[in-house]
Amino acid sequence: MALNPYTFLLTLEKRAGFTDEDKALLQANADWGVKVAPAMTNHFYAYLGRDEEMNKILHTGEERIHRLHETFIQWFQEMFTGIDNWGPAYADRRWKIGLVHVRIGIGPQHVVPAMATVIHEVAKELQVEGQSEALKDSLSRICMIDLAFIEQAYVEVSSAAVLQETGWTEGLFRRLIATGARSM
Ligand code: HEM
Repeated sequence: MALNPYTFLLTLEKRAGFTDEDKALLQANADWGVKVAPAMTNHFYAYLGRDEEMNKILHTGEERIHRLHETFIQWFQEMFTGIDNWGPAYADRRWKIGLVHVRIGIGPQHVVPAMATVIHEVAKELQVEGQSEALKDSLSRICMIDLAFIEQAYVEVSSAAVLQETGWTEGLFRRLIATGARSM
């Protein structure tokens, strides 16, 4: 059962309490997002670089690092614009980012603290510039939504791969997981 990214986005918006007010506030501050994106990107990759395992994943060539900087800046700015006002294009883009990380083998243990770093650095910058708490809250909510996309991609890709390979039904798969979790 393939995930529909846009339906998933709508579900997450409700769960995270991401409202039209959040969207309006982010869009009103899109220029600020553009301004701080390069500095946030530098903080982010400096953080990843301090972790031995993640540093190794990053440094498979200068070209990858350069590409990563570009794509991260773009990702950061899109949190403010919502691409198509947080419509299907935004959802598809976030889903694709999730799939890229699954393919490279970057797991929740890497991504969750990394997103916390983004929120922490943004909060620091907002404070320095005397920006509102409300903007910090809106950004935190959209960061959590984007994080949920990356995390959910793991679950979806892993289950789909097992179901395809084994021919099991979803029901059987869920029962096996429950049994496995009980025995751990
Ligand atoms: C806050 C969490 C993260 C965000 C928002 C993020 C954002 C992105 C984006 C936007 C892309 C480009 C996807 C595409 O090509 O369509 C990407 C790719 C990638 N990310 Fe992340 N990332 C995150 C966490 C991490 C972590 C923890 C690592 C660990 C090393 C990592 C390593 C990579 C790598 C290696 C690529 C592929 C680069 C390539 O094209 O060769 N990311 N990321």
